[in-house]
Amino acid sequence: MRILITGGAGFIGSNLVEFLLAKSEVEKVRVIDNFATGYAHNINEFKHNPKFEFVEGDIRVYEDVQKVCEGITHISHQAALGSVPRSIHDPMASNAANVIGSMHVFHAAQAAGIDRVVFASSSSVYGDDPISPKQEERLGNVLSPYAASKRSIELYAKAFSNVYPFRYMGLRYFNVFGPRQNTQGAYAAVIPQFIMALKEGNKATIFGDGEQTRDFTYIENVLQMNWLCLTTQNNNAFNQFYNVACQKTTSLNTIYSILADCAKSTIKPTYASPRTGDIKDSLANIDLAHTLLGYTPRIQIQEGLIKTWDWYNKKVQ
Ligand SMILES: NC(=O)c1ccc[n+]([C@@H]2O[C@H](COP(=O)([O-])OP(=O)(O)OC[C@H]3O[C@@H](n4cnc5c(N)ncnc54)[C@H](O)[C@@H]3O)[C@@H](O)[C@H]2O)c1
Repeated sequence: MRILITGGAGFIGSNLVEFLLAKSEVEKVRVIDNFATGYAHNINEFKHNPKFEFVEGDIRVYEDVQKVCEGITHISHQAALGSVPRSIHDPMASNAANVIGSMHVFHAAQAAGIDRVVFASSSSVYGDDPISPKQEERLGNVLSPYAASKRSIELYAKAFSNVYPFRYMGLRYFNVFGPRQNTQGAYAAVIPQFIMALKEGNKATIFGDGEQTRDFTYIENVLQMNWLCLTTQNNNAFNQFYNVACQKTTSLNTIYSILADCAKSTIKPTYASPRTGDIKDSLANIDLAHTLLGYTPRIQIQEGLIKTWDWYNKKVQ
């Protein structure tokens, strides 16, 4: 397997790089990233590995994508501008990276005869669907430009599979967390924000009352799911969208209190108005991934939070 990872300098991408480099089936891991939200320090440790190749490039530029597809057998497409608030502030930028960029990846992949494209979608595609847990075939109205961008690329993947020799698997990640997640800036995710606040003895901010729940998913479960998709020979598993989660919900208040215990901190968070475009609760049904791919999450929330806390406390961020 010679695998291209788009967005490989980001949080999920760089963890995938490390995971795939350790697999004997993998001959090459090539990364394309433009460092929009990723960091060289996420991938520096791999640069002496003979299986690893880094190309600084932009998926919004078709020629860049065409070039990195040469000699590749599988694609794991992770590059995007994440974050609902970012997409509200700058929807054009989200569209360019997430929609146009993904179309480039899909088009170049089919033109190069690449075996399959596994790509990052998002739980945000469920929008205001009131029924819980979320089931792959039932979608609500999208609530943000970010969600619209992910819903759009799912539609394009489906359309491409109808008109080109193109096979895909779209992974609807539910709030992934773990080592190498960005801790900086207004668009950082909630778990790294809590960790940094606790590490530095500052008050974390919770938008809303903290009772909103998410199906938080530790990175190792996401790596397992990507690997199952990249290697499966089950024909029925192709051209599907999958929830990638643990099928358990946890409130932000509970997350905060587990991390505060890890930090042995008594500092309380502050509460601010809820954010536009955010959903109240989010829980996945993961039966499809289990049935077609044999996916079972191995690391549950508490263990994942402790591992993540330990990682950030060994690293100087
Ligand atoms: N982390 C989560 O909880 C979560 C949840 C749902 C979906 N996702 C999706 O998973 C994927 C990975 O997310 P992440 O959390 O690792 O985010 P991240 O921001 O850490 O990684 C994204 C990477 O893509 C790169 N990138 C952005 N635009 C690019 C461009 N035009 N050309 C080349 N590279 C570009 C960034 O520099 C970054 O390295 C994204 O598609 C995201 O939308 C993540």
